[in-house]
Amino acid sequence: MIYRAAIFDLDGVLADTARLHLKAWHQLAQELKRPWAEDTGERLKGLERMASLEVILGEESDRFSEKEKIDLASRKNSYYQKLIRSLSPKDLLPGAGELLAWLNEKQIPIALASASKNAQAVLQALEISHYFSTIADPEQSAPKPCPDIFLAAAQGLQVEPELCVAFEDAAAGVAAIKAANGMTAVGVGSENSLREADFIVGSLSEFVPKDFFLSAIHAASIS
Ligand code: G6P
Ligand code: MG
Repeated sequence: MIYRAAIFDLDGVLADTARLHLKAWHQLAQELKRPWAEDTGERLKGLERMASLEVILGEESDRFSEKEKIDLASRKNSYYQKLIRSLSPKDLLPGAGELLAWLNEKQIPIALASASKNAQAVLQALEISHYFSTIADPEQSAPKPCPDIFLAAAQGLQVEPELCVAFEDAAAGVAAIKAANGMTAVGVGSENSLREADFIVGSLSEFVPKDFFLSAIHAASIS
């Protein structure tokens, strides 16, 4: 199969920021004296902000009003924003910069499908904003594992979902890709949590783009 476009999740795929989200949630959990189980980190990956808060609050969720929950989520966001202040290109994950540059050189369009409302700030700090033709708006899409944000990204690129490869580090994200009308999922990370993906790589440096993508220049010359 030859693909025509690439769609990326951000946190934990391109940027080493999944651990910063977890650090910020962990701080909040400690302040609220909520337990942090062995699988809490994995369960939080890819979930949007309010859904993540529900994981932290667990069975105590009913004790908080909607207003209190919004305040708690903003408190976590302020911890996270403090942590991303020092981000720079060195926080790109292995292979991310090289893969984006390769796709760009071959004129293969690139989109972002991140649930994070901080995504644009993170892209800027990493100095990779210019690679993206489309950034799907998480506020306009149902959260992962719904496929909406990946479908919006494909639509923004004007490429059929079945001709897109999408990259994810979270089980909820892989489920979203697999529900996106024939889109192909590359799981980035450990096999345990990404079983549903079509392909799994330990990091983007293991991904061989020339096996997946046809250069847009070449495609134009043969069509
Ligand atoms: C990404 C991360 C999640 C995070 C979510 C919302 O999907 O993987 O850990 O909760 O974005 O991020 P935000 O920056 O909007 O709170
Ligand atoms: Mg992620």
